[in-house]
Amino acid sequence: MIEVVNVNKSFGPKQVLHDINTRFEKGKVNLIIGQSGQGKSVLAKCIVGLLEVDSGQVLFDQRDFCTMDRSQRKDLRKEIGMLFQGSALFDSMTVEQNVMFPLTMFTKMTKKEMKKQVDFCLDRVNLKNVNHLYPSECSGGMQKRIGIARAISMNPKYLFCDEPNSGLDPKTAIIIDGLVREITYEYNITTVAITHDMNSVIEIGDNTMFIHEGRNWWQGDRKSIITAENPEVLNFVYASEFMKEIRSSIQQNRK
Ligand SMILES: Nc1ncnc2c1ncn2[C@@H]1O[C@H](COP(=O)(O)OP(=O)(O)OP(=O)(O)O)[C@@H](O)[C@H]1O
Ligand SMILES: [Mg+2]
Repeated sequence: MIEVVNVNKSFGPKQVLHDINTRFEKGKVNLIIGQSGQGKSVLAKCIVGLLEVDSGQVLFDQRDFCTMDRSQRKDLRKEIGMLFQGSALFDSMTVEQNVMFPLTMFTKMTKKEMKKQVDFCLDRVNLKNVNHLYPSECSGGMQKRIGIARAISMNPKYLFCDEPNSGLDPKTAIIIDGLVREITYEYNITTVAITHDMNSVIEIGDNTMFIHEGRNWWQGDRKSIITAENPEVLNFVYASEFMKEIRSSIQQNRK
């Protein structure tokens, strides 16, 4: 479990995160949603230590990341898998080298052990016989899978995904979401994913946090978001006028 306690973050005079309190649960897909520019990425970066918080705590199973020294942080980072936006694969490396990268950086595994782990992770994301391809030879959906394989190569306790299904067609997006969910449940990972996609919220959002103006505006599960009465949440969920009309006609019918 990851707990965020009273986190504040400013850039110069501009305060981006206001007193954020939240909890991301173990073995669940926890989502961070909200409109553009509201602070989702800044919050995720503060949690994984890519940005320093101004005040507050980030507890990884009770271990406060913010007060750790460099070597303690390095150890904890080994427990965190990250899938970056756009997959962020190394273009000059093969698929195998990409997935192997964290193992070469952070472990003392032999080449044979690393190869075995790479094959296991690629198999887990349903990719076979792609080891020697380069990212440019792979489709967008394949690249996401490779990114996921790399993110789980170190058997992480915590998995962060920045827009795991962006840029994919709706069907492939659902398949990638399903994969994130399966891996989370199978390995009991605390997964945190940023998304704009309402499909993802409904399909995989066990616990969803809605950020608005840098504040934890609303939090709940996939069922409660559909019926949330909070105006900003409503605006996000039913973004188009058409969907708003459908919602109000359903409500009218119920009366
Ligand atoms: N390094 C930085 N320096 C200054 N301001 C920043 C920095 N990073 C983010 N911001 C500001 O913080 C605010 C929140 O940005 P953030 O990237 O968290 O938005 P977001 O919710 O992830 O949006 P999107 O959905 O578009 O990715 C924005 O106003 C942005 O300009
Ligand atoms: Mg962002």
